[in-house]
Amino acid sequence: MGLSRSAGQPGLSVIAALLVVSVACSNALNSNEIAEPSVAGEWWPEITQKRVVEPAIEARIDELMASMSVPEKVGQLIQADIADVTPDDLKVYPLGSILNGGNSAPNGDPRIDAAAWLSLADAFHAANLERGGTTIPLLWGTDAVHGHNNVVGATIFPHNIGLGAARDPDLMARIGEITALETVVTGQDWSFAPTVAVARNDRWGRTYESYSEDPAIVASYAGRIVEGLQGTVTNTQRLRDGHVLSSAKHFVGDGGTADGIDQGDTRVSEKELATVHAAGYPAAIEAGVEIVMASFNSWHGEKLHGHRYLLTDILKDHWGFDGFVVGDWNGHGQVEGCRTTECPQAIMAGLDMFMAPDSWRELFANTLNNVRDGAISEARLNDAVRRILRVKLRAGLFDKPRPSLRRYAGEFKLLGSEAHRAVAREAVRRSLVLLKNDGILPVRPDSRVLVTGNGAHDMGRQTGGWTLSWQGSGNGRAHFPNAGSIWEGLQQAIDSQGGTAILSADGSYDERPDVAIVVYGEPPYAEFVGDRNDVAYRDDGVHLAQLKRYREAGIPTVSVFLSGRPLWSNRHINASDAFVAAWLPGSEGGGIADVLIADADGAARFDFTGRLSFSWPNHPEAAVLHAAHNEHALFAFGYGLSYSETETVAELDEWPSFDLSSMDTTQTLLVRGSPVRPWSVTLDDGEVSQELSGRSRLVTPALSVVREDYMSQEDALRLSWTGDAHAIVGGQTVDWARAANGDLSLVIEAHVDPNTMGDIALQLGCGTACEDTLPLRDLMHDPATAGWLTLSVPLKCLTQDTAALAAMEDPVWLSASGTATVALHALHLGPTEGSARCLK
Ligand code: BGC
Ligand code: BGC
Repeated sequence: MGLSRSAGQPGLSVIAALLVVSVACSNALNSNEIAEPSVAGEWWPEITQKRVVEPAIEARIDELMASMSVPEKVGQLIQADIADVTPDDLKVYPLGSILNGGNSAPNGDPRIDAAAWLSLADAFHAANLERGGTTIPLLWGTDAVHGHNNVVGATIFPHNIGLGAARDPDLMARIGEITALETVVTGQDWSFAPTVAVARNDRWGRTYESYSEDPAIVASYAGRIVEGLQGTVTNTQRLRDGHVLSSAKHFVGDGGTADGIDQGDTRVSEKELATVHAAGYPAAIEAGVEIVMASFNSWHGEKLHGHRYLLTDILKDHWGFDGFVVGDWNGHGQVEGCRTTECPQAIMAGLDMFMAPDSWRELFANTLNNVRDGAISEARLNDAVRRILRVKLRAGLFDKPRPSLRRYAGEFKLLGSEAHRAVAREAVRRSLVLLKNDGILPVRPDSRVLVTGNGAHDMGRQTGGWTLSWQGSGNGRAHFPNAGSIWEGLQQAIDSQGGTAILSADGSYDERPDVAIVVYGEPPYAEFVGDRNDVAYRDDGVHLAQLKRYREAGIPTVSVFLSGRPLWSNRHINASDAFVAAWLPGSEGGGIADVLIADADGAARFDFTGRLSFSWPNHPEAAVLHAAHNEHALFAFGYGLSYSETETVAELDEWPSFDLSSMDTTQTLLVRGSPVRPWSVTLDDGEVSQELSGRSRLVTPALSVVREDYMSQEDALRLSWTGDAHAIVGGQTVDWARAANGDLSLVIEAHVDPNTMGDIALQLGCGTACEDTLPLRDLMHDPATAGWLTLSVPLKCLTQDTAALAAMEDPVWLSASGTATVALHALHLGPTEGSARCLK
């Protein structure tokens, strides 16, 4: 079992090693038939510029394939993650591709320097050559989704939702070009971008990856970003230097799932699927996109990874897409009858390459068997390999030297270069949408400006998810050497023009300011971790109270709101004289001051030009808002003020009856020593079973509970064993299967008494699949700190069968059989930092 521990201050972590047992395999498929192709439904648009077969390339593929062994062919179908594959593995396994997932990085350190990325690319390249046999160049894919965002120092662009507000397809091409160039600097070949989802329910945690709820905007951007990344490709034109392969994702319907549930079921008509959710693909294909990523979601219950009609009949046959289809992170494992380590069904349906981060080794063996026993037909295998080789040939990879010798590689000064940052800063200016302005903006620079709020000087909040780490967590100012926070931009603009800027962490001031700028919003998140039950903005009350206090004191207020989606924030809007939706701007916080702070004469230096690409909700539950549901829009799609427009926003309804305190408890079990309702802790020694309620003290003969002080009064739960017993956390049925596949960890903040002899076993409550236990005392007793520790255990290290976590009633068990004591402060799911692995 892998885990990371941090003592005292967050950020310090140690990776320790435990045991994981590999999964046994069984045969799932008994049919090797490819069904007759069906005819595309009438709604799917035609593609006018299909790519034509290039005889020279096809001949070369014939030649290569003639010399490839079956294992070499099967290897092309598999992509492994660098957290689980080493260059040495490539000397043995003929894999087609590698990737770095959101948390994966050289040495397991997402904040390692850029040079380490390039040398790892070289190491993989060399190992691939060393293997012998028929050498096919390796492809390294990375989520360069808002700039080359996994690498320290790179230019970080606004997330797609902000770019959608800019309404500028040409800007997408420029961003794509810069992103590609910075990616080539560190040796990767392929970006998992663009996301062309049309998000239709803003509860979805990936809303910010969508340019717009409007398919027309997505379609107008899709081709241009592909052109930026890949360059202009024609039938005979190879990928030029400084460009990378692009993949449009996630095909198809990712933004249309019921209730906005990530990886959920899209229950829309074929017409809506084709005309709304697929809108970006024809343009991407016409622009030459070489790869399409299959989506985690299903369409009317059938997972896209196994959807032959959509992957083969529509994408490949109807649209003539002749590149390859890559899967998403173990997404094939969700196809009915499949596991992450075996899924011939997906290949037969039209998937060409499995994204098999940690499952690749067994998947390789099983896929080889599938080919040998006919579950995967020879024709389908050959077609998949042909497509992958075609893309590699078109990318010119066969003629390229090792990554560090390629043009631009190692030119680290290109990362976050001035020219690149200037484009990102322009994108920030263009993305800002002014929702309200009672005349306070632009701020005169000769004034006294108070700046506060949790987003004012916080690069994590400003850049969002998919930045250095998967969830965007753990990012401090120092991790962004080529960047500026929003505060730094404001300070520079105000100071340089003779005004006074004051950053106040708690919002207080000595001398009365002329205006207060409060920067606040959502914390970073990615994928399903960002799914919400409603679209209400919840802060801890701090910013709202500040805004109100300033106003009472007659100080005008400006809200700069950072969020991955439009959120109902009427109370904050009411308390603000001006309200700016700034989305997730990225590394160039200075772009905000450019628009907010006037020149010396009090005239705006840049006007607001951003227009909402998503409608803004008028109610905490108004999550579905596109044109057909417009009556719930407070600010309609397309809204956005400029300095010449003085439209007043009347006092807004604050919906006092809506419960803003309720939180999603499926991932939070214990806070400050208390179970969060509906969770409860039950003590069970086989004879007595008692549930902890309120602040009571509980005792069974073998196990007792008392409150203890940690950081404040009674904020820890102290469990003391004298015999055989369990402390069980339960109270609602939770599905942690997706969280386990997504590499979330169980995070425990606790103190284990080192003086007691017995150990405490931590275990998940999923029955026989959860028999692995974690020795809590051994792991948490650290003589060096002898105190409180935070332990993160990747869920996938607690079971070999993550699907078994789909319906747990009592998810967490602590058991001991002798004298043992632990004090618990917090228990929740959280991101796994670094590439914590389950080691053998
Ligand atoms: C995401 C993709 C991403 C991939 C690799 C998946 O979980 O859905 O968007 O490209 O991981 O990080
Ligand atoms: C990876 C991401 C991936 C996600 C899947 C994470 O562990 O780092 O790249 O998208 O799991 O849900």
